[in-house]
Amino acid sequence: MSAVITEKAVLREGAFGNAEALSCRECGHRVDLGPHYACPECFGPLEVAYAFPAITREEIEAGPRNIWRYKALLPVPADIETTPNTEPGFTRLLKADNLAAELGLSALWVKDDSTNPTNSFKDRVVACALSAARELGAKVFACPSTGNLANAVAAAGARAGIKTVVFIPSDLEKPKQVNSAIFTANLVAVDGNYDDVNKLAQEIAAEEEGWAFVNVNVRPFYAEGSKTLGFEIAEQLGWRLPDQIVIPVASGSQLTKVDKAFRELIALGLVEDKPYRVFGAQATGCSPVATAYKGGGDAIRPVKPDTIAKSLAIGNPADGIYVLDICRRTGGAVEDVDDDEVRRGILLLARTEGIFTETAGGTTVACLRKLTETGQLDPALETVVINTGMGLKTLDAVGDTVGAAATIDPSYAAFAATGLG
Ligand SMILES: Cc1ncc(COP(=O)(O)O)c(C=O)c1O
Ligand SMILES: [Zn+2]
Repeated sequence: MSAVITEKAVLREGAFGNAEALSCRECGHRVDLGPHYACPECFGPLEVAYAFPAITREEIEAGPRNIWRYKALLPVPADIETTPNTEPGFTRLLKADNLAAELGLSALWVKDDSTNPTNSFKDRVVACALSAARELGAKVFACPSTGNLANAVAAAGARAGIKTVVFIPSDLEKPKQVNSAIFTANLVAVDGNYDDVNKLAQEIAAEEEGWAFVNVNVRPFYAEGSKTLGFEIAEQLGWRLPDQIVIPVASGSQLTKVDKAFRELIALGLVEDKPYRVFGAQATGCSPVATAYKGGGDAIRPVKPDTIAKSLAIGNPADGIYVLDICRRTGGAVEDVDDDEVRRGILLLARTEGIFTETAGGTTVACLRKLTETGQLDPALETVVINTGMGLKTLDAVGDTVGAAATIDPSYAAFAATGLG
């Protein structure tokens, strides 16, 4: 089930740090570390399994102010900081008192990942995928993407000096297209939706030698990068877990990895063991996981996306069933909001906290509001909401809603007449 990435017979010692194998999430079968993503026994998804040594808070705190401070918990070599990469992470965790007051929450934080190098959380996962691609000797660094991933792959590849080819649906927002094309000459726009683009990528990965598709054949390594969101939130809260966390869901990978991060921190004794609730956020126009959650079933029925939240428009989410499992197990929920609510969510975060988020963040904030109003989220508990992207990439979503309050002659009289004084 794995494409050939490398001619290398042997990986260098420590190529994947403390990772010891890839393990099937369905049957537990283990395979050697390499460009594999599906279990040879049951076709279930593989994930990275570790043999962690003792790791202290002090060791982590002494590390760089980026995701590599957690390198002992990632499938990357000990010398990862010496290789060129975009050094993402350690973004702000803002105490969001204005938004909390607006929603009636007692304590709320926004984890603001819009300030990563290409302005989304995808820089985290791509940094880990780049490390794997390098260790496996890949010649091409590639991805199918709903937009942000393509930006991150194209930029990281440019910095690392590796050829990139990124595939996107052709109807993607213009700023996201430019944000990839500026870094790579090989932006491929596909007439189809993300799920079509993803299928094409799987075909190419099977046919072509030497390609590392970050979210296909090196997906187990790539996905681990999202754990750093969970690690940072815990560290920035003073080495403790929040009571509740709201996370956007497209493929569902990020949500499952934040949960994995929290469980690893507990297992390593880096935070106190306590219950936490995980909530997923989707746009109604692409809400297969929320629909399954509300229906009470275990199966995810794929949908054809139709929403302004294009970065979340994955109709057949690879990790959907695991999202359902985590949200149910932790006492959370999966909610969805329509496109008008997404727009209002963008405005709400901007006007209360001075953060311009993209449609994915609008979805998450609007779901936070809905979860609170419907009593699914406890307003008395400490809550974190993740903002995964940046509003300048989805200007069209709010461009008609906001603008100049007045257009006037350059005179005091004209200003006074506006009543804005
Ligand atoms: C801004 C943004 N937020 C959230 C997500 C969801 O990520 P995942 O596919 O890990 O669920 C994406 C995915 O592309 C994204 O671009
Ligand atoms: Zn298996």
